[in-house]
Amino acid sequence: MSDIKKIKDDYINKLNTENNIDKVNNIKSELFGKNGIVSNEFKKLGSVSVEERKKLASVLNNIKDELQNKISIKIQEIETKEINLNLEKEKIDVTLPERDFEIGKIHPVSQVIDEISSIFSEIGFSVEEGPDVENEYNNFTALNTPDNHPARDMHDTFYLDNNKELLLRTHTSPVQVRTMLKGKPPFKIIAPGRTYRSDSDQTHAPMFHQVEGLHIDKNIHMGHLKGCLNYFIKEFFEVDKIKMRFRPSHFPFTEPSAEVDIGYEIKNGKIVIGEGDKWLEILGCGMVHPSVLKNVKVNPSKYQGYAFGIGIDRLGMLKYGINDLRAFFETDYRWLSHFGFDPLDVPSNYRGLSR
Ligand code: PHE
Repeated sequence: MSDIKKIKDDYINKLNTENNIDKVNNIKSELFGKNGIVSNEFKKLGSVSVEERKKLASVLNNIKDELQNKISIKIQEIETKEINLNLEKEKIDVTLPERDFEIGKIHPVSQVIDEISSIFSEIGFSVEEGPDVENEYNNFTALNTPDNHPARDMHDTFYLDNNKELLLRTHTSPVQVRTMLKGKPPFKIIAPGRTYRSDSDQTHAPMFHQVEGLHIDKNIHMGHLKGCLNYFIKEFFEVDKIKMRFRPSHFPFTEPSAEVDIGYEIKNGKIVIGEGDKWLEILGCGMVHPSVLKNVKVNPSKYQGYAFGIGIDRLGMLKYGINDLRAFFETDYRWLSHFGFDPLDVPSNYRGLSR
């Protein structure tokens, strides 16, 4: 009797200092297993008198309860400790910066559009937009290019129906028409966007980008047009001087009309601007034809002005030394990561356009 009490105390002491779950489980079977110490004590009950048995049984039951309690508390203690230890080990510091971070790039065309918008906004132009799918009236007729006009063939138009009423716009000039029809002069807008012609080689793609410019007010003349384009070209290329020429040309919707070329050369397979004897046509321009103004309900004896249409992709080729226009639209990730721009560095006239 005193034996079992002593054994109990020993085991309680042992359990107090034990921290290993396997050892606790061993103790459990040492005490309560088939031949466990406590189990054997219970077996002995059969061989004692009834009186004695009652007393002994109650003592044994108390010892059993105490030990079992102690064991289950100990097991729980150890398990909780283990869980906390694992949580501590697996903790992730979400505030640590990501490693091997692959940042996306801004396509050169988007970059050039942002740069152009920033430059023209400095001198009071706002941005307008028009749809890629146009009607033939806005794309041609309103722009003084009636049916059977030879200029229609020159545009290699993608028509969308057999009646040739819907088409993919061949230039951004229909945005001139849309802008003037919905508002009142003066107008001072640019309209960047996609344009389409059935044409493909090193400097032509079936889908390309233009930015239209339109400035209509009282007493606007060709000098304003030249001044505006001069300012734009220098700002865009971020230089003081650039080789640039105005060539007399023809557009049905402007009179007089001109085309502007930029001088360049190819060095080590890359386009270099400002030198050399090659010319790349980058824009068409002129004074808006009085018939166009009449078509959009603007009185040509009161208001006049200039318009221009700039090839955005070609500007990008010249500025960033890209010698094949088709590469812009091949979605080659290696090309984009080389020629693309930092998405967080938005071009502005103050902070710099392309740096
Ligand atoms: N729309 C003409 C083109 O795409 C360019 C242009 C625009 C010319 C405005 C004159 C005035 O070829």
